Amino acid sequence: ANIILLGPPGAGKGTQARKLVEERGMVQLSAGDMLREAKTSGTEMGKKVAEVMDRGELVTDEIVIGLIEEKLSSGHGAGFIFDGFPRTLPQADALGRLLAKIGQKLDAVIEMRVDDEALVDRISGRYTCGKCGEVYHDTTKPVKVAGTCDACGSTDLRRRADDNADSLRIRLMEYYKKTSPLIGYYYHAGDLFGVDGLAEIDEVAASVAAILDQQA
Ligand code: AP5
Ligand code: ZN
Repeated sequence: ANIILLGPPGAGKGTQARKLVEERGMVQLSAGDMLREAKTSGTEMGKKVAEVMDRGELVTDEIVIGLIEEKLSSGHGAGFIFDGFPRTLPQADALGRLLAKIGQKLDAVIEMRVDDEALVDRISGRYTCGKCGEVYHDTTKPVKVAGTCDACGSTDLRRRADDNADSLRIRLMEYYKKTSPLIGYYYHAGDLFGVDGLAEIDEVAASVAAILDQQA
């Protein structure tokens, strides 16, 4: 199945996407990860992207659609998980076209519902492994051995440049202004499913799994 994980910053999209990759062999396409990669590339495009991202604003549709298109050609295994894409109506239209081009369609859009207060707490407690990308949280999902990634043993644990109060405020504004209209868009297309993103990680995973099994 090909699915979109839709939700505000910190809703748990990346956390759930990683579980689906592990448990179902699906392919995660994280727009944020692709842009962070571009950021470290040192190219002109990377430098432009870095400034915009660190402020918390959305990068242009053109850049993001181009990055996704590149990855779509590389095979889909048990299906694609679009994580953090699409984020605007033009991106949603582009995704429909790109999938049709490779003979695929969208099976479900999963909206992860979390209130703003919880988001602030999640974002301010988040850290990730620089080597394998595992996502942690100071209180809800800490590493077992201080300073060491449970998944790969790396000691390269980092916090994101945009996980500060100022950038988060802008990321939330961007979400409500530009991304939340996608909820109505996919509702009308008949593809929308909602899950309670405030539940524990494993409970959210069970809700997502139930939706996927219904599609199969
Ligand atoms: P992106 O990297 O996509 O960031 P985001 O949408 O802000 O989402 P996050 O990664 O912050 O959160 P998440 O929902 O994945 O939550 P996570 O699982 O980490 O985008 C970053 C920037 O890139 C954007 O601001 C923009 O500039 C640019 N960009 C990206 N895509 C773009 C696009 N399509 N167009 C234009 N620009 C784009 O979880 C968060 C924390 O909560 C973690 O610590 C986790 O351990 C914890 N947690 C997760 N689930 C639970 C749970 N159920 N209970 C308790 N804790 C939990
Ligand atoms: Zn790791």
